[in-house]
Amino acid sequence: MSSTDDTVPDRSFLKKNEDSSSLSVRAWVRRDALPCKRSHSCEVLTSPTDSSVALRAKDLVHAVQSGTGVRTLCYDSGYLNTIMAKSSITFIDGERGVMRYRGIPIEQLAEQSSFLETAFLLIFGDLPSQTQLEQFSKLVADHSFLHTDICDYMRSFRYDAHPMGIFISSMAALATTISAGDLQHLDKHIYRILGQASTLAANAYRHRIGRAFNEPRSDLGYTENFLYMLDRLSEDDYRPHPAIVRALDVLWIVHADHELNCSTACMRHLMSARVDPYTAIGGAASALFGPSHGGAAEAVVRQLERIQTVDKIEPFLDRVKAKEERLFGFGHRVYKSFDPRARILKEQVEKILELIGVEEPLFLVAKELERRALQDQYFRSRRLYPNVDFYSGVIYRALGFPTDFYPLLFAIPRIAGWLAHCREAQLAERELDLREHTHVIRPAQVYVGAAPRPFVPLHSGNRPPYQERDIECYRTRLSTRRRLGLLSGARLEERIE
Ligand code: SDX
Repeated sequence: MSSTDDTVPDRSFLKKNEDSSSLSVRAWVRRDALPCKRSHSCEVLTSPTDSSVALRAKDLVHAVQSGTGVRTLCYDSGYLNTIMAKSSITFIDGERGVMRYRGIPIEQLAEQSSFLETAFLLIFGDLPSQTQLEQFSKLVADHSFLHTDICDYMRSFRYDAHPMGIFISSMAALATTISAGDLQHLDKHIYRILGQASTLAANAYRHRIGRAFNEPRSDLGYTENFLYMLDRLSEDDYRPHPAIVRALDVLWIVHADHELNCSTACMRHLMSARVDPYTAIGGAASALFGPSHGGAAEAVVRQLERIQTVDKIEPFLDRVKAKEERLFGFGHRVYKSFDPRARILKEQVEKILELIGVEEPLFLVAKELERRALQDQYFRSRRLYPNVDFYSGVIYRALGFPTDFYPLLFAIPRIAGWLAHCREAQLAERELDLREHTHVIRPAQVYVGAAPRPFVPLHSGNRPPYQERDIECYRTRLSTRRRLGLLSGARLEERIE
């Protein structure tokens, strides 16, 4: 809503009203339109810890429309400048590299808390008492056992099916084991989803390596139980190494939530349509699977494997700057200084490599790649810094996880964040401004398609040929071999182009 002609100075300004709770918005709409005839007060949404302010789009639309008679919406591809919800779960300040869960700095939680205690904080809003944490841990552990039908379903996947594909499908399959009426008690499903998510993930891993599934153990901690289900063979008393349990706990604490990232926004979209939480989490995990989002840790390690040695970093960075490659693990929609999680995980890498007792050549490449990128004007000018995925992949590799298992190691902890948003949205609908939270999320669009035109029947002879390239079908060598067989005999002379 600012002047689009540089001969007309931008007259947009905001003036605090007496009550300072709202602002008068007067703006020039365009040089060929009169300024709004009268100022309109817009309610301002402000955060106690954030300097930016937000105006209700509805008020802005009304202010402009009443001045110009034109309904004027904001086009914001990727929602770069759009706020879709109020939330009290996670606060991020991308300029200062600040991240807090329910007001507590991520650095303190990573150092002093456990993943399950952090999950309680995110979901219920405060740190639990000793008794509450014990009760919560027991509820989650008791709900970590799977229906045998779900285990049979998981065994039906190909051995080399991507673990995320198995997990997403199995999470949606869990939804088929609950009755609709049961969905009233969201907290019960919170325990169940948290408990069963790690069992689903462990089973996906065991299926991949051809091992029988381990039953969860309710006497072990959450992360410890996950590693137990992954690695126990026949020992009755197998326990994962406590230092590895702690390392994974820290990884899961920093991955647990991150305000309205792509997958969490997807969760909110699905919950607005009243989807059950299991199916919604399957959808959110699908969004997380993308290499631009939670699939980046896998992409980072594959990128480091492609670079292989320090002397190949420069040519790789040249390709990135020529836009032939992306530097996975770098850049972030919010963090334009540094991602505090990347700093925490970089410290973890050193500890784990020492514990495992291996020299991880990819870590040397990762450190040198980070050093050079941080010195390079291309990345500095675009404020691209290491994000959470830059080092998490190196840690997972050092711990011996298969590369395609990394997105699932991101999804498990992020379920705590998705459930926190799910519960917050449900509470908002009950306790806060009802009008605001019952909308099914449905953004608008700008239509740029064909002008109105009549249907032309196929055999009318008037249908114009399909303009773009002919409909092609990618052919595998197998289908080409088959096709040659079909074309053999009388029409051998036909050659395949
Ligand atoms: C996660 O949102 C969250 O909170 C996500 C997450 C969470 O916890 O949920 O933090 C987890 O998803 C971390 C991000 C993991 N993804 C990657 O590491 C993939 C690589 N990163 C990029 O794809 C990218 O940085 C994004 C997607 C993360 C952010 O992209 P933006 O904010 O939309 O930035 P942009 O695409 O507008 O880029 C601005 C400029 C462009 O250059 P110019 O057109 O100005 O010349 O920066 C360049 C981009 O080409 N750029 C990169 C780059 N990221 C941005 N160039 C090379 N390598 C990159 N990684």
